[in-house]
Amino acid sequence: MGRKSNKAKEKKARRQEERAAMDAVCAKVDAANKLDDPLAAFPAFKKYDRNGLNLQIECKRVTTLNPLSVEWAFELTRANMQTLYEQSEWGWKEREKRDEMNDERAWYLLARDGDSAPVAFSHFRFDVECGEEVLYCYEVQLESRVRRKGLGKFLIQILQLIANSTQMKKVMLTVFKHNHGAYQFFREALQFEIDETSPSMSGCCGDDCSYEILSRRTKHGEASVGHTHGGGHCGGCCH
Ligand SMILES: CC(C)(COP(=O)(O)OP(=O)(O)OC[C@H]1O[C@@H](n2cnc3c(N)ncnc32)[C@H](O)[C@@H]1OP(=O)(O)O)[C@@H](O)C(=O)NCCC(=O)NCCS
Repeated sequence: MGRKSNKAKEKKARRQEERAAMDAVCAKVDAANKLDDPLAAFPAFKKYDRNGLNLQIECKRVTTLNPLSVEWAFELTRANMQTLYEQSEWGWKEREKRDEMNDERAWYLLARDGDSAPVAFSHFRFDVECGEEVLYCYEVQLESRVRRKGLGKFLIQILQLIANSTQMKKVMLTVFKHNHGAYQFFREALQFEIDETSPSMSGCCGDDCSYEILSRRTKHGEASVGHTHGGGHCGGCCH
């Protein structure tokens, strides 16, 4: 009897600990989502003046962004990605993509040229993945005329900076294996790793999946490798 009730107590204590840990994770995500401008503390990253580009960079929640900018972002995503989606098991689902890009949790990094015309963006969110607070990069899309000038790398560096300053554990994203340029960009140039939740790592339908989940840990995430709390969405399987 005594042993049993001790076990029950331990179990209860463990559950309370797990709940407190998850509350702390959610509190960090909530705090990040309450920011006006996650880039405010880093004015040097609000412009990109290199390789013939002279751009202004802003960081805004979708709810404060001009709807025309979101529509431009959607059209660029369609132009860059529709064929790649059609070649995958996901297919191109226009309404879902539009809803995703207009979801109130969406944040945007937007690069504009001297005429204030947008030329590149990243849609990202602060979220919980497998019990960890993460910055999930949903899109990084550049118009073709501004590619291979270091801008994509700069935008991802900004995401890494924001992830660090908001105490997220890692920057995550999904990339199609058949998007060879982007795959090389993330894996080789930016040294992203295949995330433990990626289908190829979980052993579930790895070879059949046309995508990988990639990630790079922040300094806050380095300390917690292998110590996830469970809970949250723990994907990795395409079925
Ligand atoms: C992928 C993308 C974001 C890269 O941005 P970018 O500004 O063109 O890339 P950068 O100039 O910062 O490249 C940095 C390094 O990444 C690698 N790289 C970038 N694009 C590459 C490509 N198409 N093929 C191979 N390597 C590439 C190179 O090593 C490059 O350095 P280098 O130019 O000195 O050789 C951009 O090409 C893009 O918007 N593509 C279309 C949309 C897309 O596929 N988005 C990704 C969805 S997951």
